[in-house]
Amino acid sequence: MANLAVFGIGYVGVVSAACLAKDGHRVIAVDIDPRKVDAINRGQSPIVEHGLPELIAEVVAAGRLTATTDVAEAVRATDASFVCVGTPSAPDGSIGLSYVEGVCDAIGAALAVHPAFHCVVMRSTIVPGTMERVCVPRLEAASGRVAGKDFGVGYYPEFLRESTAIQDYHDPGLIVFGALDSQTGALLTSINKDLNCAINLVDLRTAEMVKYTSNSWRAVKVSFANEIGNIAKAAGLDGQRVMAILCSDHKVSMSPYFMRPGFAFGGSCLPKDVRALRSLARDMSVASPILDAVLVANAAQIARAEEMIHASGKTRVGMVGISFKPGTDDMRESPLAELAARLIGKGFDLSVYDPFVHEAYLNDLGAAGRGLEHDIALGDRLVPSIDALIEASDVVLVGNRYDEAIPPLQAAMGGRAIIDLARIKPGERSMGSYEGICW
Ligand SMILES: NC(=O)c1ccc[n+]([C@@H]2O[C@H](COP(=O)([O-])OP(=O)(O)OC[C@H]3O[C@@H](n4cnc5c(N)ncnc54)[C@H](O)[C@@H]3O)[C@@H](O)[C@H]2O)c1
Repeated sequence: MANLAVFGIGYVGVVSAACLAKDGHRVIAVDIDPRKVDAINRGQSPIVEHGLPELIAEVVAAGRLTATTDVAEAVRATDASFVCVGTPSAPDGSIGLSYVEGVCDAIGAALAVHPAFHCVVMRSTIVPGTMERVCVPRLEAASGRVAGKDFGVGYYPEFLRESTAIQDYHDPGLIVFGALDSQTGALLTSINKDLNCAINLVDLRTAEMVKYTSNSWRAVKVSFANEIGNIAKAAGLDGQRVMAILCSDHKVSMSPYFMRPGFAFGGSCLPKDVRALRSLARDMSVASPILDAVLVANAAQIARAEEMIHASGKTRVGMVGISFKPGTDDMRESPLAELAARLIGKGFDLSVYDPFVHEAYLNDLGAAGRGLEHDIALGDRLVPSIDALIEASDVVLVGNRYDEAIPPLQAAMGGRAIIDLARIKPGERSMGSYEGICW
């Protein structure tokens, strides 16, 4: 069991402090507000939260939770500080870091006179890069010590929901943290080891980003469901029933398959049907800002890929895939076909490897070129093999993943410029002549 300081006796800090103490750790809660400190020391909860008054009374009576305004005392008596101060919006919508900066300065000053190794773990919600750009430099400046060597640093976002916070602490949906040093990583791993949830130990920025992704995703879901509900009601339907049926489909509708960052959607259904639902909403005078934005965002992803080709400075482009997805020759509203047409229109010399579309052309199938809305003489541009495509290109644009194309593409990495919309190698990140669209 560890000795822990928790900075900030707000919603997150007080729940964490009480639950950590319940788990058997010795916890000192720290706040600049003496009323909150006094409340804890009297065994009372400073906030309204289900189960918290009883929990605080129990752990304070057991001597495992105390509170103070004295930062130096709290740091001196503990192995790690968990920082849970507020990060309210600044007037321009950016993150307000004044409390984070203040607490880093205060902990740093305490570290300057604290000989033992101490881990500083940020739990407040902070945008990616804040640990490296703000917290670590301030802690180092105030302490005169080196982060990751003389003291530990971690970022461990909190996902609890008010009203079910204690339950969420014991049964989390997600655990993620980053650490600069092995001691901090080991401490956070040991604190979480008995929970029935996978532990994701990542870099600091990834942990920061996961927190914002989680909250933004929840916000998008609420607004999407509301928008569907508004359209459904106007059409004489029960929006909650519609969404409940949708949510029962874990194979397609709720599948993680569609949650992988990459290229735009297309095909004969999604663009057409989003447009139609939007049009229905408009006819019924129902606002559909989310559906509107979906089409705008999709067009922006095609423009992003085009921009990546321009930025490569190459003119001979080899495109892997032109159908709207692998395994079909269907090019109706294929974003790759749209991209190909734009590149050709701007003078790029484009070749295409697409085994399914090529087969349709070779066999002169009635559907060959089906759905190709652009006049780009595709038949003349199709090449028979991935090797021929790589050979004929200065930059390869990977739009679809074909199994047989992966080894030659991976072999070409490093020697040939590659723009990857489909992730030919798991875990590969943009570097040198390789550029992934979202990684
Ligand atoms: N509220 C939630 O449900 C929730 C959930 C997950 C994450 N978060 C994030 O956690 C952070 C804290 O949120 P909250 O709702 O608990 O905030 P809060 O405003 O309720 O509490 C923050 C506390 O920090 C104290 N504080 C400020 N400066 C201090 C300092 N230098 N030393 C010690 N204490 C100091 C304040 O007095 C206050 O008591 C935020 O970044 C928030 O975005 C909140």
